[in-house]
Amino acid sequence: MATLIDGKKISQEIKDELKEKVAKLKEDGISISLAVIQVGNNPASTVYVGNKKKACAYVGIESLAYELPEETTEEELLQLVQELNEKKEVNGILVQLPLPGHIDEDKVIQAISPAKDVDGFHPQSVGALSIGQKGFVSCTPAGIIELLKRSGIAIDGKECVIVGRSNIVGKPMALLLLRENGTVTVCHSHTADLKEVTRRADILVVAIGKAKMIDADYIKEGAVVIDVGMDRDENGKLCGDVDFESAKEKAGAITPVPGGVGPMTIAMLMNNCVESALMQK
Ligand code: GUN
Repeated sequence: MATLIDGKKISQEIKDELKEKVAKLKEDGISISLAVIQVGNNPASTVYVGNKKKACAYVGIESLAYELPEETTEEELLQLVQELNEKKEVNGILVQLPLPGHIDEDKVIQAISPAKDVDGFHPQSVGALSIGQKGFVSCTPAGIIELLKRSGIAIDGKECVIVGRSNIVGKPMALLLLRENGTVTVCHSHTADLKEVTRRADILVVAIGKAKMIDADYIKEGAVVIDVGMDRDENGKLCGDVDFESAKEKAGAITPVPGGVGPMTIAMLMNNCVESALMQK
């Protein structure tokens, strides 16, 4: 029976540490602000953005909300990003994805100043990560590293297998695990024998967006299983990419959904905002 990795509890610890740090900075006259831009009203995005604003309020970071209509043009959005880049009092800029189809996401991400790229999505941030230079790191994979470290799970020398190769999770996850001296394999939809590869993992990170796809059969006895999925099961209930009930019987440690990786993403966003303000001052 696996140990539960409690992301909710660990993220709360991080937010409490940051809250203290932010209060001390305030005494020194340093305040922190994050601009959060949402275009249109995708219901999932509204929930995520709401959670980010709530975390800002808790930690003591001012959130500046820009709720733009669905019809906003790419030019208007780029103009806003440019204005926020130039505003000294804005430390971080976050454009919630996905954007409406008529807006080129890559163009918008590239318009954000790398100094304010608290999501870590800018090509300069990703490039810096890949060659071991300083820069913002995508919050979900950064949160997973923190989750492992704070749970006392060693990465050095371990077989790390990632299922999924997205720009936001899979690829930066591979780079971060490599930086921690893991032996890293990335699987994807063209992997010939997925089970054969995932069964080698000491640490298995799953980010594929398919409800309950990874069951005990894919897992080595005692492995650490990190579930990045946010899916709905056949009854419409929130679940992950891992079949938790089956996997927990074989894994050594496992993250639940909800309450695993999700809250860590937001805690790391708060951390990036604090870092961003410190670097700018
Ligand atoms: N949409 C889903 N996850 C994220 C995220 O981490 N950042 C942004 N900006 N949009 C998202």
